[in-house]
Amino acid sequence: MKTFFIQRLLAATALTAGCLTAVCADEASSSTPTYLRDIQPIFMSSCTRCHNQETRFVYNWLDYKTAYADRWEIKRRVWDGWQGSYYKEAMPVANSPESLALTEADRFIIRKWVENGSPRGVAPANDGVKSKAERIEAGRKLFTICAACHQPTGHGLANQFPPLAGSDYLNADKARAIQIVLYGRQGEVIVNGTKFNNNMPGFPLADQDVANVLTYVYNSFGNSGIEVTAEEVKTVRAQSPKPAAVTAPATKSNFE
Ligand code: HEC
Ligand code: HEC
Repeated sequence: MKTFFIQRLLAATALTAGCLTAVCADEASSSTPTYLRDIQPIFMSSCTRCHNQETRFVYNWLDYKTAYADRWEIKRRVWDGWQGSYYKEAMPVANSPESLALTEADRFIIRKWVENGSPRGVAPANDGVKSKAERIEAGRKLFTICAACHQPTGHGLANQFPPLAGSDYLNADKARAIQIVLYGRQGEVIVNGTKFNNNMPGFPLADQDVANVLTYVYNSFGNSGIEVTAEEVKTVRAQSPKPAAVTAPATKSNFE
C-alpha cells in the first residue's frame, strides 16, 4: 500500500518537474491562448499605461494587428528578457507596478500565445466553468473586450456606444444579445429611449466564452441577473443570423 503511494507520488513529481504549479495548471488545460480571450486582458492591465494610442514611440498593443506584427519582440521582452536571456530591457519595465503585478503564469500565457501562432479569437473553451458564480468570474475578465467601447462602467459613450448598464434592449431578449456578440450589429438601435446608429463587430469567441461574458453583463450594472449557458449559445449559433443583428460590418473596426 505504502509503496504504491510512493510510486504514484514519484510519477506525479516526474510529470511536473521543471514547471511551477500555476504554469503547469495552464499547460494541463492545453488550450491555445487567443488574443481576445487571454492576451487583451493582460495587455489592458499590464501594458496600456505606457503602450497606448497617445504614445508615439512605443506601439499600442491593444490593436490586434500591431500586437500580431510585434509578437516575437513581445515574447522576447516579456519572457526571455525577464529570464535574463535577452539583451534588451525586459517588459514591463523593471520595478513598475505592472512588472510587480504580472505573474509567471501571465508571462507564460503570452509566450504560449506567440509560439502557437497568435490567433485573435475562437479557442477551445473546455475550462470546465460551470456554476453561475464561476461564469461571472470568467466573464469579468472577458468584459475587457466590451469595455473598450461600452466602457468599464457599462454606461457606453454618448452618440457612439449604447449602454449595457440597465439597457432595456439587452434585457428584453437573450437570444438577440447572443447574436449581437456572435455577429455584431449595425444600423439604428434605440436603447433606453436614445437612438444610436453605429457599427459593432462580431467577436470570434467560443460558445462558453460568449456565455460567460454575457452572464457577467447580465449580472452587473443593474441588469436582470439571468444566466447564459454555452448550450444556449450553441443553439443560437446553429440558427441562421437574424437580419436585424447581422452581416459583417461594412468597415472593419480598429479592434480587428
Ligand atoms: C512603465 C511603462 C511600460 C510598461 C508598463 C510596459 N512597457 Fe513596453 N516599453 C516601454 C518603453 C519606454 C519602451 C521603449 C524602450 C525600449 O525599447 O526598451 C518599451 C518597449 C517595448 C517593446 C519593444 C518595442 C520594439 O518593437 O522595439 C515591447 C515589445 C514592449 N515594450 C512590450 C511590452 C508589453 C507586452 C508590456 C506589458 C506586458 C509592456 N511592454 C509594458 C514602457 C513600458
Ligand atoms: C468596437 C466597439 C464595440 C465593442 C468592442 C463591443 N460593442 Fe457592443 N455595441 C457597439 C455599438 C456601436 C453598438 C450599437 C450598434 C448599432 O448601432 O447597431 C453596440 C450594441 C450592443 C448591444 C445592443 C444595444 C445595447 O446597448 O443593449 C449589446 C447587447 C452589445 N453591444 C453587447 C456587447 C458585448 C457583450 C460586447 C463584448 C463581448 C460588446 N458589445 C463589444 C460597439 C461595441
